[in-house]
Amino acid sequence: MKAAVYDRLGPAAEVLRVVEIDRPEPGPGQVRVRVEASGVNPTDWKSRSGATPRPVDGFQVPHHDGAGVIDAVGEGVDAARTGQRVWLWMAAAGQPWGTAAEWCVVPAEQAVPLPDGVSAELGASLGVPAMTAHRCLFADGPLEGCSVLVAGGAGAVGHFAIELARHAGARVAATVSGPAKAELARRAGADPVVNYRDDDAAGQLRSLAPLDRIVELALGANLALDLALAGPATTIVDYAAEPQDPVLPVRACMNANVTLRFVLLYGVPRPALLQAAADITAALSDGALTELPVTRFPLDQVAQAQEAVQAGAVGKVLVIP
Ligand SMILES: NC(=O)c1ccc[n+]([C@@H]2O[C@H](COP(=O)([O-])OP(=O)(O)OC[C@H]3O[C@@H](n4cnc5c(N)ncnc54)[C@H](OP(=O)(O)O)[C@@H]3O)[C@@H](O)[C@H]2O)c1
Repeated sequence: MKAAVYDRLGPAAEVLRVVEIDRPEPGPGQVRVRVEASGVNPTDWKSRSGATPRPVDGFQVPHHDGAGVIDAVGEGVDAARTGQRVWLWMAAAGQPWGTAAEWCVVPAEQAVPLPDGVSAELGASLGVPAMTAHRCLFADGPLEGCSVLVAGGAGAVGHFAIELARHAGARVAATVSGPAKAELARRAGADPVVNYRDDDAAGQLRSLAPLDRIVELALGANLALDLALAGPATTIVDYAAEPQDPVLPVRACMNANVTLRFVLLYGVPRPALLQAAADITAALSDGALTELPVTRFPLDQVAQAQEAVQAGAVGKVLVIP
């Protein structure tokens, strides 16, 4: 099969190659998937470049996310799953068979049935962003009737955070940096949508305070805004590191009686990941999750696809094997 691989860390153009390798066979408890679309996330270039290195055992096919059709099952997996359309999560975690290839193999539970009518593009956009959004939103309980602020509401995680929170019955506000991103966040269901650079951002969000959840990706840059909207029932959940770690204003955090939580998908307990996959699929079935604008690259241009994500592409970047 044709696959993108790397066997050492470094710049995309230097270490990513597209080669012919043996098609993998599914082992016990695994399924093999003919990949229709492979979703690219920041973690893929960070792992490959060494910015946040992850161990490579011989070689690595990159990309956790994807969608496709099961064409073979391993021992212990229901043979009736053959032919099922699925979305994939964390395919490249702890094993070499990521989704940037014509086929991949994953544990059967990481290939989740796609509801009828859901596109491969949307299926391949879910894994890292929607699972992260789910953990940020629900690690501290249900959201029915709650208020949520999503920072960076036009980002991939932000997009699914808005949609999953709305689906769970929350009122959702978002911050963005300009009108085009505001439109994306609004379309996902956020209201109000506020420019986080406005001097009066806190004033524009005040009607939702005190918030129950703040899904945050720039804790240092946004903490003053977050604390202005926080109270004893607020959890600020941060899922991204900034170039420089912030200094925590302990007194201001104490004054707000706020709770801080951090999320890294690789370390989320497995039962929570399985619950996230089930809840995301239920939201898909209800039509509550939508595609972001998509940019497609052929497999031969996998390096350019990862570079586009690193450069901050708006929407989802997909590789089509
Ligand atoms: N912890 C985890 O497990 C986990 C999982 C997924 C992603 N991540 C990390 O989370 C980050 C985002 O991932 P993604 O896939 O959602 O990326 P993305 O699609 O590029 O979205 C990032 C968004 O954040 C916005 N943003 C940047 N600075 C901001 C600020 N100060 N306040 C509000 N919004 C801001 C960006 O727009 P503007 O710059 O125009 O504001 C952009 O819309 C990446 O660093 C990624 O590595 C971590």
